[in-house]
Amino acid sequence: MRIRMDDIIKKRKTQKVLADKPWPVDQDREGLKKMINELLDLAGHAPYHKKCHERYSEVENDLDSCVPWRFYVLDAQNCRTLYHYIARQDIKAGKISNMLAAADALFLVTWLPDPPEATATDEEDKMQVEESLPFTGNMRNMEHIAAASTAIQNVLIGATARNIPNYWSSGGQLRNLVLRQYLNISLQEILLGAVFLFPEDAENRNNVMIKSGAMRDQGKEKSTWSRWLQLDMEKQV
Ligand SMILES: Cc1cc2nc3c(=O)[nH]c(=O)nc-3n(C[C@H](O)[C@H](O)[C@H](O)COP(=O)(O)O)c2cc1C
Repeated sequence: MRIRMDDIIKKRKTQKVLADKPWPVDQDREGLKKMINELLDLAGHAPYHKKCHERYSEVENDLDSCVPWRFYVLDAQNCRTLYHYIARQDIKAGKISNMLAAADALFLVTWLPDPPEATATDEEDKMQVEESLPFTGNMRNMEHIAAASTAIQNVLIGATARNIPNYWSSGGQLRNLVLRQYLNISLQEILLGAVFLFPEDAENRNNVMIKSGAMRDQGKEKSTWSRWLQLDMEKQV
């Protein structure tokens, strides 16, 4: 069992499945829904250390969990709808569009920052979809991000175990204010990842390009990022 889990973790890899035009949506909607729900259950088993700020459970929102992440799920049909919306708005989303044309599902995963010391103005809230993100660099926020990241990793591992090609993207144009508003995701939340899930047989389809992660072969050598500490009881600091 342990070895099998090791294998799945090592097998996980970035696969950006790029289609030049929208793929038809698979008829097995129930099968897809079941798979998505299984992966969401895995995300729900991620560790977390601090509950999100109470402002996220006070708002009139169906998503009032104490966990510091939120998942917004688009099935294949909704990925295609978003694809067409982006085209209609003339947003140049590049590979994000190509992946929406191919994806069976997309999880937009946010993490929930504590409110900045001073109340954020609307302007500051808007900024978070651009380059600079208005969250305070403190321990709680660090741990919120860390927890949300483990939820995403659970999904990637679960997808890999099911032979579902997957990709964690920063989101590119999905961070764009127009799209955030279209998707109806609160600007208080910060997009941590756009997790694409593709059809199992993606690589056998016509006119498809699959791109790997740029750093796939870098950073695997543990001696370059880990050190065994040998401690000396007598050492003075
Ligand atoms: C937080 C995060 C954001 C990422 N965003 C992008 C992205 O926007 N574009 C991209 O090409 N790859 C992105 N990646 C995937 C990395 O490029 C990939 O993980 C890396 O190249 C290693 O390849 P591997 O996932 O196959 O091991 C992201 C990965 C993480 C963890």
